[in-house]
Amino acid sequence: MTERITIAFEVDGRPREEEIAPSTVLADLLRDRYAMTGVKTSCERGVCGACTTLIDGVPAASCSVFAFSVDGGTVETIAGQGAPGAPGPVQRAFAECGGFQCGYCTPGMIMLATALLRAHPDPDDERIRSWISSNVCRCTGYQMIIDSVRRAAELLREEAR
Ligand code: FES
Ligand code: FES
Repeated sequence: MTERITIAFEVDGRPREEEIAPSTVLADLLRDRYAMTGVKTSCERGVCGACTTLIDGVPAASCSVFAFSVDGGTVETIAGQGAPGAPGPVQRAFAECGGFQCGYCTPGMIMLATALLRAHPDPDDERIRSWISSNVCRCTGYQMIIDSVRRAAELLREEAR
């Protein structure tokens, strides 16, 4: 019989308990069990960043993380960043600045931006470039993503006032 383990963790603020195979990958757990298809998978080798989520607040390629490793921790995904008709500030900034074309990389970029702006509320372009360099976008040429992150910083600072 295949070994199973039980993990308990939080996804976008919601407690979850799951029985999983030790080899279960976090991205598959999120997508297949919770239908969180906003977590995109592409390379599935930890290279492109499409699947970026925040694990205990830190960006991570969820295609390359075993689900058991988030036991007792928190996972944040694009689904927690806003709701249909009520996008969060980082999502609004990407929409406003045209920070996407096909949109496939966008959830990962938005999660990266979210972590960046928590750590550095007023980043310069060099810092933004450095942070988003872990993720691949095949469409935009990146400049509009950089503009979006800068705008997101403004919106978040306005909200914090
Ligand atoms: S799908 Fe996870 S890094 Fe590419
Ligand atoms: S918008 Fe298409 S991959 Fe980035």
